[in-house]
Amino acid sequence: LRPKPLAGKRVLITCGATREYIDGVRFLSNSSSGRMGFALARVFRWYGAQVKVVAGFTTAQEPPETHVQRVVSAQDMYQKVMELKDWADIIVMNAAVSDYMPERKETGKIKKTQSLTLRLVSTPDILLHLGERKGDKLLIGFALEERENLLENSRQKLRRKNLDMLIANPLEVMDRDFHEGYILYADGREEKIEFGDKVISAELIVKKVINGLLSKSL
Ligand code: C5P
Repeated sequence: LRPKPLAGKRVLITCGATREYIDGVRFLSNSSSGRMGFALARVFRWYGAQVKVVAGFTTAQEPPETHVQRVVSAQDMYQKVMELKDWADIIVMNAAVSDYMPERKETGKIKKTQSLTLRLVSTPDILLHLGERKGDKLLIGFALEERENLLENSRQKLRRKNLDMLIANPLEVMDRDFHEGYILYADGREEKIEFGDKVISAELIVKKVINGLLSKSL
């Protein structure tokens, strides 16, 4: 049995892929499975935290006895997170939120023609919004980047979104069991991580959160 240093702490976790519908049956999305977010939900509970999950589309198995609220689009996820943010002490944005959505959604099914131009507009950046009004919450983000500029781009994101911690991952971890990348902290520390299983990785991340809370260094 593990100790419960997170008893009384409330953790909101987002995970999975959002879907941006083009018409009644087609959408833009990505191959996020929800593995990492669901693993984090399990592990945060092992250490005593109360957990709520806001999930887009996932293929991974849901964690047991955990409140999972389903959403479809980035807009829906934004609204649900705004509803729950004041409840949470710690927010982990693990979801692969679509960066774009169709400017308008057609009804029914778009007819086949020679070519079709879709106009996309930006979705709200949920994490950026949270970072601008952070208060004393702990904010943790994930970044999926090409290996070449993984660290450089992730450092910028950590700062721009005002995060306490950012887990920087190469593209290869998406929809896979293994997990590798870096944990970046607001104070400039960086740690390399590499595990064959996302639950093991999630446990390391949760332990870092616990250490940070205890030493007030996050
Ligand atoms: O900027 P980028 O999308 O790479 O940042 C990734 C982080 O921001 C993730 O934690 C993701 O959940 C979050 N995000 C968000 N809202 C968006 C896009 C990304 O909260 N529209």
